[in-house]
Amino acid sequence: MSEAKRLAAEKAMDHVEDGMVVGVGTGSTVAYFIDALGRDPTRIKGAVSSSEQSTARLKAHGIEVLDLNHTGPLSLYVDGADECDPRRHLIKGGGAALTREKIIAEASERFVCIIDASKQVEVLGRFPLPVEVIPMARSLVARQITTMTGGQPVFRMQAGDKAVITDNGNVILDIHHLSITDPKALEMAINQIPGVVSVGLFARRPADVVIVGGEPPQVP
Ligand code: 5RP
Repeated sequence: MSEAKRLAAEKAMDHVEDGMVVGVGTGSTVAYFIDALGRDPTRIKGAVSSSEQSTARLKAHGIEVLDLNHTGPLSLYVDGADECDPRRHLIKGGGAALTREKIIAEASERFVCIIDASKQVEVLGRFPLPVEVIPMARSLVARQITTMTGGQPVFRMQAGDKAVITDNGNVILDIHHLSITDPKALEMAINQIPGVVSVGLFARRPADVVIVGGEPPQVP
C-alpha cells in the first residue's frame, strides 16, 4: 500500500516546475511528495502548507514555507484523499486538515490528487465524511446533519479520551453511513449550517488530475 502511495507522489513531481510555489497537502501520501521535493529543496521557490504537520516536514527538508496571503494564486496544489469517485470528487480530512486544504485547493490553478487504488470508489461515503466545526456548535451541527442526511455523526477523539483539535482550534465530526449521490449539493447544504467551518467534500472544486500509484494518470 505505501509503495503505491510513494509511486503516486513521485509521479506528481512531473507537475513541479523550477521556481514554483507549490501548494502542499497533508497525510502519509503527501509525506512522500515532500520527501521527493526535499531531494532538491532549492528547485522550488517555496511551499504553501496545509498543516503544522506538513510545515514541520517541509522545513526539515529546508523548503521555505510561505504565506498564501503573500504568494497570491498558486499554479499547483498536490494532496492526497480518503476517497475519490470517477468524477474526481473527493472526501478529505482524515488528517483533520480539511479547511486549510480546501483554501489552498481553491487558490490553485491545478489540483493534483495522489492516492493508492484503495481510495477509488463509485459512490463517496464509505469513508466517514469529516466536518470541521466551531466547538460550541458541535451538538447543533450533529443534530442538523442527522436530520439532513440520515448519517451518524461521531465526535472525533484521540488517545486519552481527548477531542481532536484542528490546527484552527476547532473539532471534527465524522459522518458515518452516507451514500453521497450528489456531492455538490451535500457540500453546499452542510456548508450552510451555522458553526460549520468546512466539510471534507471536494466536489465544487474537485481534483483536476488524479494519480493512482502504479496506474496511468486520470485526466478529464
Ligand atoms: C488530510 C487528508 C489526507 O489527504 C487524507 O486523509 C489521505 O491521507 P493519507 O495520504 O495518509 O492516506 O485529507 O486531512
